[in-house]
Amino acid sequence: MPHAVEITDLHKHFGELEVLKGIDFTVDEGQVVCVIGPSGSGKSTLLRCVNLLEQPTKGTVRVNGVELTDPDVDIDAARRRLGMVFQSFNLFPHLTVLANVMIAQRRVLRRGKAEAERVARENLAKVGVGDKCDAYPPQLSGGQQQRVAIARALAMDPDLMLFDEPTSALDPELVGDVLSVMRDLARDGMTMLIVTHEMSFAREVADRVVFMDGGVVVEEGPPEQVIGAPRHERTRTFLKRVLDPTHASDDTADSASSATSADADSEGTQAQAR
Ligand SMILES: Nc1ncnc2c1ncn2[C@@H]1O[C@H](COP(=O)(O)OP(=O)(O)OP(=O)(O)O)[C@@H](O)[C@H]1O
Ligand SMILES: [Mg+2]
Repeated sequence: MPHAVEITDLHKHFGELEVLKGIDFTVDEGQVVCVIGPSGSGKSTLLRCVNLLEQPTKGTVRVNGVELTDPDVDIDAARRRLGMVFQSFNLFPHLTVLANVMIAQRRVLRRGKAEAERVARENLAKVGVGDKCDAYPPQLSGGQQQRVAIARALAMDPDLMLFDEPTSALDPELVGDVLSVMRDLARDGMTMLIVTHEMSFAREVADRVVFMDGGVVVEEGPPEQVIGAPRHERTRTFLKRVLDPTHASDDTADSASSATSADADSEGTQAQAR
């Protein structure tokens, strides 16, 4: 059986800037892979190359054996198999929650109204916002909106879900609800590729963790290795900064005070998510 995702020698340039410098890794069906790494290391670019929101400069991306980077592939059909959840929810503010979850089913999958509505209600209930069908997105909390965005992606019956920091725009007290929906999806066997700064979540849910820095994969493996006992100095430095703000002040005196409050915040978030 082919890997659910197979990324081979993936490069991406923006002009002179080489953002991805040869990325290789795979995700098997039903696996959860979390991608971690410092800001600017290329995590979002990687996800955007996987669903071809960005055209890779070189290399291949295969999803369930279909090479998305093949110029002859039906890219719309292939992309339909992927669900994407971003930091910003991108819901239509003038449509009800129910309509937001129905619209792509109707237009892209050509489902009838009754079926689209049934699937929408089912998925909204699954993510815990079944009572919000008639509300408009601006009337919901960030955490509820993000769960609607997840339901919208699930309604398309994706083979693979891609998440790019789905909780980083949320108030700390709302993060837990979204992570718990993602935890349930993992338990149900959904294949997921997740960029996250939530280390305790990654540790608990990921089958494998990929640490990226400077456009390369520095190390990857099970979370207890990559997060619990990293082999590389760059991984250790990153984790120290994310997990233990007091240490960050030892090696980065300049940015210490601002980094400390931000990191303390995300630590509180992680504690809640547990
Ligand atoms: N469309 C673009 N044009 C030019 N440069 C870009 C473009 N998109 C991203 N970059 C650059 O590529 C690098 C990697 O960006 P990317 O968004 O992938 O990082 P990231 O790891 O997701 O960071 P963060 O954790 O802050 O989200 C950055 O230097 C960024 O400025
Ligand atoms: Mg990013």
